Amino acid sequence: MPGWELIGEEERNAVNDVFDRGGILYRYGFDKVRKNTFLVDELEKQIALRVKAKHALCVCNGTAALKASLIALGVKPGDEVITQSFTFIATVEAIQDVGAIPIITEIDKSLNMDPKDLEKKITKKTKVIIPVHMAGVPAKMNEIMSIAKKHNLKVLEDSAQALGATYKGKECGTIGDMGIYSMDIGKVITTGEGGVIVTNNSQLWKIAHEYSDHGHECNPNLPRGRDTRTIPGFNYKMMELQGAVGLAQLKKMDYILKKQRENKKYIKDKLKTIKTIEFRELPDEGDAGDTLIFFVESQGKALQVAKTLAEKGIGTKNLPDAIDWHYAGTWSHIFKEYPQYKGNLEELWKQSTHLLRRAIALPILVKMDDQQKNNIINAVTEALA
Ligand SMILES: Cc1ncc(COP(=O)(O)O)c(C=O)c1O
Repeated sequence: MPGWELIGEEERNAVNDVFDRGGILYRYGFDKVRKNTFLVDELEKQIALRVKAKHALCVCNGTAALKASLIALGVKPGDEVITQSFTFIATVEAIQDVGAIPIITEIDKSLNMDPKDLEKKITKKTKVIIPVHMAGVPAKMNEIMSIAKKHNLKVLEDSAQALGATYKGKECGTIGDMGIYSMDIGKVITTGEGGVIVTNNSQLWKIAHEYSDHGHECNPNLPRGRDTRTIPGFNYKMMELQGAVGLAQLKKMDYILKKQRENKKYIKDKLKTIKTIEFRELPDEGDAGDTLIFFVESQGKALQVAKTLAEKGIGTKNLPDAIDWHYAGTWSHIFKEYPQYKGNLEELWKQSTHLLRRAIALPILVKMDDQQKNNIINAVTEALA
């Protein structure tokens, strides 16, 4: 997740330009002062072009992007929204924040939504399915889309971690009805905080756009102060400074993806010789390449490997180091609100627990030289010996 690794002169100059052009940090209005330069607008155009979506909408962060999308998809209090057990907690927070009930599926060896379990979890109350392309690896979208079609359900792709990843030639985030990306500090490209919604459906874009801006319709014939509105909204707007940084980062995205995919391949090819580990299943080779995940034989072994790696200065990502923020089985503070979730949550998703508790996630960076990659390979080999 290395956008932050490449923050430099280009981003600094882009921010300085905003100040040099009149210092309007707000995305709308002040046309003359800002010399008609609208950077958030431009970022939306360029992201839409890059992922081949009809519309992109920039908002303040990925969590807000999820919530505005759920509103656009018509999710109401009491509806059920299905997502997967392995995700960042934000996916479930967004479902909870619109008053819907989060329903959690097992993951399979791809560590993404298990389509077999998805079908079992659909009820009359189900409204939306949120598959997550966790750690840049696409979910099994063909299976998920055909289940959604069969049950007449909408699909919102949580592609927060997978900007630039592809599935069967399509960009992750653009396969379902709506998709979202995050540009927080840990993501493929970063604006510090930042989120993007993409969709090919103009009506869904319109509602998300209005919702994220207090209901403003941005009527071109009226000044903002007399703008029209028909739906209640909230304020999830992106700032112009994020637009400036995002445009500079977007220029680096293809390089970022290329380098992390190369670095991941180098490490994976060497680790393939270790017979006692099993790699995460990849539904498609188009993953973003910023994480390499493998399973060991037991939870005890996973903890021991992570400890040995840490002693050598090599951290693991969400597995196991930050599992508490990424596994629904640990979120009793959220699920206590819902009567259907009782007892030891890890027991509710046994398949997920069995996979996640045995998994090691290695971070892959853009700026890794051969020595750093070899250090990781040697450390993992030694830890597993
Ligand atoms: C899978 C997933 N969904 C949603 C989010 C929320 O994005 P943000 O941090 O931009 O609010 C994240 C952020 O880490 C994420 O990883």
